[in-house]
Amino acid sequence: MSIQTFKKLLVTGGAGFIGSNFIHFVLATRPVSVINLDCLSYSGNLENLSAIEADERYRFVHGDINDRQLLEDLLKECDAVVHFAAESHVDRSIIDARPFVKSNVMGTQTLLDALRSSGQDKRLVHVSTDEVYGSLPLDKPELKFHEESPIKPNSPYAASKAASDLLVQSYHETFGLDALITRCSNNFGAYQFPEKVIPLFVTNLLEGKKVPLYGDGKNVRDWLHVLDHCEAILTVLEKGQSGEVYNIGGNNERSNLELTQAILQIMGQGPEMIEYVADRLGHDRRYAIDAEKIKRELGWEPTRSSWPEALEETVQWYVDNQDWWRHVKSGAYRDYYQLQYGQRLTTH
Ligand SMILES: NC(=O)c1ccc[n+]([C@@H]2O[C@H](COP(=O)([O-])OP(=O)(O)OC[C@H]3O[C@@H](n4cnc5c(N)ncnc54)[C@H](O)[C@@H]3O)[C@@H](O)[C@H]2O)c1
Repeated sequence: MSIQTFKKLLVTGGAGFIGSNFIHFVLATRPVSVINLDCLSYSGNLENLSAIEADERYRFVHGDINDRQLLEDLLKECDAVVHFAAESHVDRSIIDARPFVKSNVMGTQTLLDALRSSGQDKRLVHVSTDEVYGSLPLDKPELKFHEESPIKPNSPYAASKAASDLLVQSYHETFGLDALITRCSNNFGAYQFPEKVIPLFVTNLLEGKKVPLYGDGKNVRDWLHVLDHCEAILTVLEKGQSGEVYNIGGNNERSNLELTQAILQIMGQGPEMIEYVADRLGHDRRYAIDAEKIKRELGWEPTRSSWPEALEETVQWYVDNQDWWRHVKSGAYRDYYQLQYGQRLTTH
C-alpha cells in the first residue's frame, strides 16, 4: 500500500462540527498547511478554530463552494481537497430542501468542475454519510450497510448527499478525477451544533429544559467519535484507492432512547426530563455500518468510541465549554467573524 503525503489541503466547510475537528487534528498530526473555505452558514462557527487562528499553517477564506473562480484560485495553491461543506441537518431538509440541493449537489458539482479544470493531479476526499443507504429494519440485526449496498436515500438531506456521491463517482469514471468517497455513521464530540441530538439534549438539561425525543425512541444509530472519523478520513486521503468508497462506523449501535437514558444518567437527571414528541417525517429506523473494508484494506478502526466513557467525555466537554454553546444558542457566535476579520456577516 503506498502512502501519499500532502503539503497544502483545501478543506471545505472547515468551520462546521467535523471540519473544524479535522483541521485541529490534521494540524496537530501532520506537517501540512490548510486553507479553510467556508461560507459561514448558520452552522459555521469560527470560534471552533480560535485556538489555531494564529498558526501560520492555517488560513480562513470566507466563500461559497458554488464560486468556481474562487475555487480555481485556491486550488492553484493546494494538492488535495477534503470536502465537508454541506447542509447537514435532516430536519431542516424536511422544512426546505432547496439549500441542500444548492450546497450539497450544485456546490459539489462546482467543486468537481474546478478540480477538473485545475488538472488531474489533485486528490479529493468527498465526506458523505451512511444515510445515503436508506434504512434497515430493527428486527434484522444481522443486516448492515456495506459499500455495495444500494443507494436508497429517504430524506431530502440524504438524497442530496447521494446525488453528490454519484456526481463524484461519475467525474472519477468520466474524467479520471482522483476522487474517493467516505460514508460515515453518526458522529459525536466537541463543537457539534446544538441542534443535533447529543449537544441539544445536554445543553437543554444544563438550561433546566426537557429533552425532545422523537416517536417511540426506538430508532437506532451507530455512534462514532468525531476524532475517529477525522483519523479515518485522513487514512483514506493518504492510503485510499482512487475511485473507491469506504464505509466508516463505530460498531456502536444505540437506540435513541438508550442514548437519552445514558445522557440523563451521566447528568444525574431522571426520565421525567424526557418529552416524547411527534416523530420526524420519514424517520429512518436503523443505520448500521459494516466498516470491514477500511479496516482490512487501510488498517483503520475506531479507538476513541468506547461507550459510555466516550459519551461521558463529550457530555463533560459541553459542561466545561458553556461559553461556546451559549454563544451559539444566543447567536453571539455570528459576531466573531466581524471581531476577528473586520467584516459583517451579511448572508445566511
Ligand atoms: N455530523 C455527522 O454525524 C455526519 C456523519 C456523516 C457524514 N457527515 C457529513 O460531514 C460533513 C460535515 O458535517 P457536519 O456535521 O460538520 O456539518 P455542519 O453543518 O456542522 O458543518 C457544515 C459546514 O459547511 C459550511 N457550508 C455549508 N454550505 C456551504 C457552502 N455552500 N460553501 C461553503 N461552506 C458551506 C457551513 O458553514 C458549515 O461550516 C457533511 O458533508 C455531512 O454530510 C456528517
